[in-house]
Parts: sequence; C-alpha cells; structure tokens
Amino acid sequence: MLKLLTSSFLLVFVILIFFGFVPREEKLPGDFSVYKLLEAFGDTPLPHKPNFSIEGTSAERGREIVINGMSDLAGKKSRRQSKHFVCTSCHNIEREDPDLAHPSPEARLKYVSEHDMPFLQGSALYGIINRRSFYNGDYDKKYGDLVKPTRHNLREAIQLCAIECSQGRKLKDFELESILAYFWTIDLKLDDLILSEQERQLIEHSFNTGEKKREAMDILKSKFMDYSPATFLAPPEDRKTGDGLIGDASNGSLIYKYSCQHCHFDNRYSFLLLDNERLTFQYLLHKAGTYDPHSIYQVIRYGTPPKGGKEAYMPQYTKEKMSDQQMADLRAYIEAEAKGESQM
Ligand code: HEC
Ligand code: HEC
Repeated sequence: MLKLLTSSFLLVFVILIFFGFVPREEKLPGDFSVYKLLEAFGDTPLPHKPNFSIEGTSAERGREIVINGMSDLAGKKSRRQSKHFVCTSCHNIEREDPDLAHPSPEARLKYVSEHDMPFLQGSALYGIINRRSFYNGDYDKKYGDLVKPTRHNLREAIQLCAIECSQGRKLKDFELESILAYFWTIDLKLDDLILSEQERQLIEHSFNTGEKKREAMDILKSKFMDYSPATFLAPPEDRKTGDGLIGDASNGSLIYKYSCQHCHFDNRYSFLLLDNERLTFQYLLHKAGTYDPHSIYQVIRYGTPPKGGKEAYMPQYTKEKMSDQQMADLRAYIEAEAKGESQM
C-alpha cells in the first residue's frame, strides 16, 4: 500500500514537471507599468507626478480636458481651454509607433492607418510621462527662450502647448494636475515594448529577486526613446519638381486622409476644405509649385503663423513627423487625383 502511494506521488510529480507546473517565477502581466519596473530597478524617479492635494484633481477630469477642452468642477463648467483646438487635434492619446525604440514616420503612417487613427504633427501623449525632455531639437528655433523652462519640466511643456500650440488660455492648477494624473494612466506598459523571451525573463527574474537590476534597467531603456527628436526641414529647393523624388500615390492617399483631412475635412479646424473633389486636387496641384502660402510644401514645412490666438493656425511637420519621401507621395496622390488617373 505504502509503495503504491509513494509511486503515485512520484507519478504526479513527474507529470507536474513534465507540464511545467514546477513553482516558477511570477510572470508580469502585459499591462505592467514600465516606470514602476524602472523605479524598482533603481532608475531616478520621474519628476512629474500629479499633486492630488490640489482640490479637483482627477485623471477623469484630465481626460475630459484633453479630449473636450473643458471639464467641470463643483457642477460648474469651466471655460474652454482654447477656442480653436483640443489637445487631440494635434496629438494621439494611444500608442502610434509600432517600435518605440526606432520610431519613423513611415512605420507610423502604416500603423495609424491600420488602426484608423490620425497622423499628426504633435507626438503621442501616450507614454509622455515616460519621457524626460520636451520640445527637443529645433523647437527652440520656433519658440526661443520659451522652450528653456519646458525642456525638463512636463508641467511647463503642457502650459506652453496650451498657450502657444493650442492658442488658448493658461491651465488652472487643478486642470494641469488633472492632465498629469490622466497622463499617468496612459504610460508605457510592458507589452508596448518589443522584448525577446529571454529579455522578458531576465526582467521578471530581476523584479522578483532583485538580482541583475542594472542589466534589466538597461534592457528596458533600450526599448523606447525617452524624448521625441525634432528636426525642421525647408521645402524642396525646386517646388516644381519636388527635388525629383518619385512619389507613391497610394501612400499619399493615406497622408491626405489620415493627416490633412483630420483638420480640413468638413471644415473641422480650418476654413480651407480639403474634400475628395477633383477641383480641390487641381487647386492643390496648381499651388504646390508656387511660393503661395497655399503651396503644400510651404504649409507642411513652415506651417501657418498663429495670429495672436485670433485664428486657428497650422503647425508644421518636422522631419520626424513627415519625411520628404512622404511629401513626394502626397504630391503624387494629388497629381493623380487632379488628372483623374487615380484608382483610389
Ligand atoms: C495645434 C496643434 C496642437 C494642439 C492643439 C496641442 N498641441 Fe501639444 N504640441 C504640438 C506640437 C506640434 C508639439 C511639438 C512636437 C511634439 O509633440 O513633439 C507639441 C508638444 C507638446 C508637448 C511636448 C511633447 C514632447 O515630447 O516634446 C506636450 C506635453 C504637449 N504638446 C501637450 C499638449 C496638451 C496637454 C494639449 C492640450 C491642452 C496640447 N498639447 C495641444 C501641437 C499641439
Ligand atoms: C492639426 C490640424 C491640421 C492638419 C493636420 C493640417 N492642417 Fe492645414 N491648416 C490648418 C489650419 C488651422 C490652417 C489655417 C487656418 C485656415 O486657413 O483656415 C491650415 C491651413 C492650410 C492651408 C492654407 C494656408 C494658408 O495660408 O491659409 C493649406 C494649403 C493647408 N492647410 C494644407 C494642409 C495639408 C496639405 C495638410 C496635410 C499634409 C494639412 N493642411 C494638415 C490645420 C491643419
């Protein structure tokens, strides 16, 4: 009898091992915060945590302000932050780059069009709290000294955008803290990073045991960029030929639909209606080769000037938000539509 018992125990044990039921390391869920892991591995804590002691601060209010431009406090609706825009006019609030370590406008366009999201001039606000510097690169050329206090301060970066990009009023304290609180809910999660099975196991092992923290931290940090680079480009020297780049019209149609029409369709943010009529494309084609403010090359690379908050304006696209090749693709699409040749 005893023999039978031991052997059946043994059998169960063998089966357990066989199916991998030996006590293993605790697995981390895919939606585990990247910043929590980094802090556990000894990274410098992120400085921009929301201050919940300011009355009215909540992530839900923050979300409303970002999406609708206002929220209410004690039953009173606040004044709209901007007459012209909301934050999501120019920024996505979901992830938009398939590979956060190597973002490119080409990969992004493919990703957003597959997910029916817009392709925009502003960087995604998803994962913004995981970044450590703001208005990088050439943005000091545009905003000068205004950029200095924002470079390492997310609160200042948000206020600058509320006033300069959104052309609106300064955010109140509870609004600013609420936006931050919301941003902390759309931080990067473990599954957003492209990790090999081995890397993931090392991170889990390190989190469970405290061993190899430095290694785990370095792996995590190599999987996303903690700032958005920004390079300003000039329009092509020769606007007639677009400097000779050959465009791909089908790609151009995605730019037109997911970027230009996000703001210009149904006169959403602009009086200039960019619909799908042949006349519209003929107009754009006619202007493209000129130095007119309505040339696509002009508006894409320089934007339009904000007129002291009185009117909406168009932000420029940096190299990181639209490549020269993509501009040529857009031109090819406009040309095909203007000539009635397009299959799209
Ligand atoms: C009219 C377009 C527009 C609107 C509206 C707008 N932004 Fe921006 N924002 C930009 C552009 C363009 C940049 C600079 C490029 C970038 O995001 O990297 C920027 C930059 C930022 C940055 C710094 C990003 C970084 O990584 O450097 C933050 C934070 C930000 N905006 C928050 C907001 C918030 C919050 C709102 C709403 C209150 C808002 N923005 C409204 C266009 C806009
Ligand atoms: C974030 C919103 C937004 C996006 C995206 C956008 N525009 Fe604009 N655009 C505007 C606003 C606002 C204006 C200026 C206000 C107006 O004229 O109504 C403008 C102005 C223009 C003008 C006229 C310039 C002038 O001086 O009046 C052209 C041409 C134009 N846009 C083309 C485009 C094209 C092409 C794209 C896509 C590559 C595009 N826009 C993407 C918001 C946007």
